[in-house]
Amino acid sequence: MPAIPIKTHTLFEKCHIHVADTVLLPSLFTMITPQTIQQITNRIDIIDVVGEFVKLKKRGSNYLGLCPFHGEKSPSFTVSPAKEIYKCFGCGRSGNAIGFLMEHEKYTYVEAMRWLAGRYNVEIEETEVSNEVKIAQQAAESLHIINSFAQKFFTGQLFDSDDGKAIALSYLEERGFKEEITRKFQLGYNPAYGNLFAKAAVAQQYNPELLVKSGLVASRDNGLVDNYRGRIIFPIHNNTGKIIGFGARVIGKAEKAPKYINTPENEIYVKSKILYGSYFARQAIDRADECLLVEGYTDVISLHQAGIENVVASGGTSLTVDQLRIVKKYTDNLTIIYDGDKAGVKAALRGLDMALEESLNVKLVLIPDNEDPDSYVNKVGAAEFKQFVADNRKDFILFQLEVMLQDAGDDVTKKSQVVNQVAETISKIDRAEDFTRRQDYINKCAGLLRIDETGLTTLVNKYKRDRVGKDEKRSRVEDTGVAEADAPDTTGHPDETSLLLNEDYPQEKNILHVLLEYGLNLWDEERTMAQYIFDELEQFDFNSPALLALYNEYRRQYEEGAEPTAKTLLYHPDEQVRNTVVTVTMVAYELSQRWDEKLENMNILNRDTSHQDVLMSVNFFKLRKIKKMFEENQRNMTTNKPLPELMKLIEIHNHLKTVEREITKQLGSVIVK
Ligand code: CTP
Ligand code: MN
Repeated sequence: MPAIPIKTHTLFEKCHIHVADTVLLPSLFTMITPQTIQQITNRIDIIDVVGEFVKLKKRGSNYLGLCPFHGEKSPSFTVSPAKEIYKCFGCGRSGNAIGFLMEHEKYTYVEAMRWLAGRYNVEIEETEVSNEVKIAQQAAESLHIINSFAQKFFTGQLFDSDDGKAIALSYLEERGFKEEITRKFQLGYNPAYGNLFAKAAVAQQYNPELLVKSGLVASRDNGLVDNYRGRIIFPIHNNTGKIIGFGARVIGKAEKAPKYINTPENEIYVKSKILYGSYFARQAIDRADECLLVEGYTDVISLHQAGIENVVASGGTSLTVDQLRIVKKYTDNLTIIYDGDKAGVKAALRGLDMALEESLNVKLVLIPDNEDPDSYVNKVGAAEFKQFVADNRKDFILFQLEVMLQDAGDDVTKKSQVVNQVAETISKIDRAEDFTRRQDYINKCAGLLRIDETGLTTLVNKYKRDRVGKDEKRSRVEDTGVAEADAPDTTGHPDETSLLLNEDYPQEKNILHVLLEYGLNLWDEERTMAQYIFDELEQFDFNSPALLALYNEYRRQYEEGAEPTAKTLLYHPDEQVRNTVVTVTMVAYELSQRWDEKLENMNILNRDTSHQDVLMSVNFFKLRKIKKMFEENQRNMTTNKPLPELMKLIEIHNHLKTVEREITKQLGSVIVK
């Protein structure tokens, strides 16, 4: 046990005083240096990296192969060595070499970097991280060590103490848990009396503050006392098998105390990101290409014991986006197995919309007769349980529709509510790669509802636009910190044209495209193009949070003198930034191909168009924003306003008109409708 660092009077105190004292755990508190990252990214050959896993054939300037992320017979997986990105036109996945390794090999960012360093013989140089990070990392590592110690202690109590055997082990056996599975999941027992765990931990000199943080003990006047008294202990593992926390269940019926006590949130226990059992289920999920989701610890363990291993638990609360993303890393197919009672169904339905937005195919199985998966598999056995799941797997959206239709009966108003609800749900299947799936649902639901398919499509599109409008509004509120209380809520009555006008996305995307492409070129004698863009856009906002994040990140790096480009940002540690870079450059790439053809015909291919591109992008961006301000101003004018305010609005109106005219003039004969 690498015990030194977390014990009292050693590292935990030291790290506040002598910060440099990190020799104790060298590899933990370091980060790969930017120089090393630079060296690695300079050498990456995406054809070589992807080619390691996918057979690629050259086609023009690109390479083509069968997509490793979805089954296909004819190749639609394209790799561009020039842009250093891959994209599958079948499933829509795209990214850079690092993203590929992360997606294909399930590596973390750092793991992907290490793999590449190995491949290109780059020696990894590591630096110390900042103080704060270091302290957080130390706390995290210490908590892992304490948890590991605690697990061994609790398992020892369960199997080797008289109390444990008599009270806890017998209870587990009675519930049908065999020793093998109990040991596999590292279950344990903490005695009811004597604060034995606290005493053992103190005897080992673990730091009291950290012990309290771990949730295992509490601090009282007379010292540390155990928190999980007389309970069965379920350790919770992260994806690499380290213990990040515990669930502690009372033995028998919970009368006074809560049935489970769980670890409080700390550096390593973040409830919203935990799927219980994922460590034990990963490979089985991969193999089955399906993840079963249940509610509780005991459900996971019992199903494992029955040989059904592709199962994880959400822990009884509604699903979070982070949890769904963990599932999505392994499979697109999520089957939710919940109790058939009202609460179970409700809990399941709550996760639906988010799951759809994450592009998961969601199925639902409801366990009958007041059973849960644990009790049901114990009652009917593994084979019958599997058969039951296979026979009763319902498509989630269709299930929701059936339930609602039953509820509505012949009530016309209710029925129209159902139609709206279904349209809204389907509208969340929103990604480009999900187009066929969405059409399929529209077709099936229209059939069940006995309504016209085209009508449902229109309604679905309306909800889609509605949401885009709302998201934009929300992001504006977040940006400025003030709600736009005065602005009329147009999203409530979506009129098609006004909503379409709300879309600033293409203009915003163009800005980022030219920024990434030409930012470091010179605009005039004094300024780079990036500086010009910053100056010009100072007074305008971005609506898209993702594009804004990339814009700000570019600006931050630029101002630090880092000379960012599309290629350097492609290797940014933040996934959102990387993805946005791909989105921005990919479209540009597709566009520029067509442009190239056009320009080639005009025989002006070698002309430098950067000035014009930047100028056009900036001006179109401004025009769009001004147009929106203009509209808002006009809306304000139509509401009853006192005269001075009205005068002011008219002044703004005139000013905007002038600016608009100027820009339009600059753009030449361009007329914006
Ligand atoms: N849970 C919790 N805290 C509680 C109750 C429940 O964290 N006070 C979580 C646990 O992860 C639990 C899950 O919700 O496993 C489901 O709760 P429940 O169905 O009540 O428990 P079971 O797992 O079925 O436990 P048992 O079979 O032992 O009753
Ligand atoms: Mn149960």
